[in-house]
Amino acid sequence: MSNNKTLAGRRIAITGGARGIGLATAKELHARGAQVAIGDLDRDTAKLSAGTIAPEVVALGLDVSDETSFATFLDGVKDQLGGLDVLINNAGIMPIGPFLELDLAVARRTAEINFLGALIGTHLALPDMIAQGSGHVVNVASTAGRAAVPGGVTYCATKAAVVSLTEGARLEFGSRGIDFTCVMPSFTNTELIAGTEGTKGLKNVEPEDVAGAIAVAIEKKQYDVYRPKALRQILFTQGLLGRKIRDAMNRRLGAYDTFLKIDHSKRDGYDKRINAS
Ligand SMILES: NC(=O)c1ccc[n+]([C@@H]2O[C@H](COP(=O)([O-])OP(=O)(O)OC[C@H]3O[C@@H](n4cnc5c(N)ncnc54)[C@H](O)[C@@H]3O)[C@@H](O)[C@H]2O)c1
Repeated sequence: MSNNKTLAGRRIAITGGARGIGLATAKELHARGAQVAIGDLDRDTAKLSAGTIAPEVVALGLDVSDETSFATFLDGVKDQLGGLDVLINNAGIMPIGPFLELDLAVARRTAEINFLGALIGTHLALPDMIAQGSGHVVNVASTAGRAAVPGGVTYCATKAAVVSLTEGARLEFGSRGIDFTCVMPSFTNTELIAGTEGTKGLKNVEPEDVAGAIAVAIEKKQYDVYRPKALRQILFTQGLLGRKIRDAMNRRLGAYDTFLKIDHSKRDGYDKRINAS
């Protein structure tokens, strides 16, 4: 964690900040001097988590899929922080397993949280940012949004939508003083990947690594963030290979089993949490 106050005075809101990548990011940004607010469906955990960082970290209830809830959250953040410079759309859920075994209601909820949540947040935050002549929207997508895998049909599609949302918004609003960042981590050690084995040959990253990368992206106004970093080159090269070679290679490496080989005894707790969301 960096204690250089490189983000002093920046007012930053993070969705899904009660745990995982969102919480690690809140800690990192606070350490760099930012004023931080987190919003989460799990309001009690958000409050407890905020308290572990510092008493001044704001924690509010939020359902990113609900426009009214998101607008109320942003109003609360602006009231308590005096404005908003950066919105980090991080909240997300990851139901995985065979596509036809996924209840359509869960698939719909996944799209509402992962994709619509980021879209609603971006739509609600932009007008004030445009009016103040500056702002930064950071969308946490996933490498799954650039490389679909069996067992992740729904999740990958929602993340591909976030990749496209961020790129389209960058093109439309980049010339108006608004910066955008698309964050694409691979397997990161949070509850979201419970019961999975990760990708062979690629070490899982820690939420703190992703948090550090997000902080640097805000400071340097970087567009793409990959973690691990090697994924930028891997995805580029895989794109050049063509489907036949790519599929054969990924099947041999087991990359297409990562969302199908699940230890349910380790994942049940996570599945229960997201099914209740
Ligand atoms: N962990 C990984 O391997 C990984 C990899 C790539 C991308 N991501 C993405 O990173 C983001 C954070 O994931 P994480 O690993 O920290 O997961 P996590 O489960 O640890 O944390 C996600 C948080 O989002 C909150 N949330 C869920 N639905 C919400 C809603 N409707 N409104 C507000 N908050 C809600 C949860 O309560 C939880 O606190 C997600 O968008 C995820 O898809 C994670």
